[in-house]
Amino acid sequence: MRVVSGIQPTGDLHLGNLLGAILRWVRMQDEAECLYFLADLHALTVDVDPVQLRASVREMAAALIASGIDPKKSIVFAHSAVPAHAELAWILGCTARMGWLNRMTQWKDKAGKNREGSSLGLFAYPVLQAADILLYRATHVPVGDDQKQHIELSRDIAIKFNTDFDVDLFVPPEPYIGGGSAARIMSLRDGNAKMSKSDPSDMSRINLTDNDELITQKIRKAKTDAEPLPDDSTLLDSRPEARNLVGIYAAVTDESVEQVLTRFAGQGFGAFKPALADAVVALVAPLRTRLEEFRRDPAMLDKLLADGAGKAAALAAPTLARTYDAVGLSRSRNA
Ligand code: TYM
Repeated sequence: MRVVSGIQPTGDLHLGNLLGAILRWVRMQDEAECLYFLADLHALTVDVDPVQLRASVREMAAALIASGIDPKKSIVFAHSAVPAHAELAWILGCTARMGWLNRMTQWKDKAGKNREGSSLGLFAYPVLQAADILLYRATHVPVGDDQKQHIELSRDIAIKFNTDFDVDLFVPPEPYIGGGSAARIMSLRDGNAKMSKSDPSDMSRINLTDNDELITQKIRKAKTDAEPLPDDSTLLDSRPEARNLVGIYAAVTDESVEQVLTRFAGQGFGAFKPALADAVVALVAPLRTRLEEFRRDPAMLDKLLADGAGKAAALAAPTLARTYDAVGLSRSRNA
């Protein structure tokens, strides 16, 4: 079992990242060989501020270890530091089909009406994501629900490449999506939009860096309806904001939605929101304190990332060499 997953180092880590992915990454460290990386090449697909990007890579590395990723157990690195990712992405870009990429909902959402003005990188980035995964012959890719389509694309690319070149090289990966409510944490302002770092309203998300007061305020102001909580989870289906807040509570306290409803059925949000705020603060506050500590030590973070990149590069090299060989390229000829 080999686990690979990544996160873009843009903005702050939010509760969606934490519940949808990172806390599962932490749990998987004891079960498998894990590689977790900062997808800094992905961050270039939209306008980027170089100073900000450099700072964000360290900041996100600090956030990961503050959340419990242990660099002694897992390989942590920035994928730009392992050139094999970009090299493999080129080759896989010749296997992937335009039609497959055109169907990616994230491309459609992010490009919107401005397809012609979007970068080629934004269109092609799911191919780089496939390279990130296939390079390490990952068996499990723990992600939130929004990444499922990209993992399925990685499977399609792996299978087509193996078939086209008649090799048994790439392992078609499985998306590993946490069951229940954590897979899709929604915005606090709109129960139909996912919680996201690109949402212009900071009130829509809870960040790892938010202090207790701000977390409580964001939850108090979260959009809801006037009804009390039901005793049956199916009755939440038509109430996206209520469903989201109950889902967050369940994910944070590691309970089922039914268990949460058993406790709060009949109560309004006046009672539920303070309980939710307490639960979120109890999860986030200790991580935030650790984050502040790690942030003060950039040299440690740089060393950790350099060590991780060295280990990742060693694991990537044989797969890349076999890929070159499969397509008829010879790296040694020009070496
Ligand atoms: P990114 O940086 O958008 O998000 C990182 C992880 O957080 C999950 N996530 C969520 N889960 C539940 N609810 C939400 N509201 C929410 N928002 C984010 C994402 O599903 C993801 O697991 N393309 C990827 C990064 C990447 C990658 C990879 C992932 C690059 N290469 C290879 C896996 C394997 C991305 O932009 O994630």
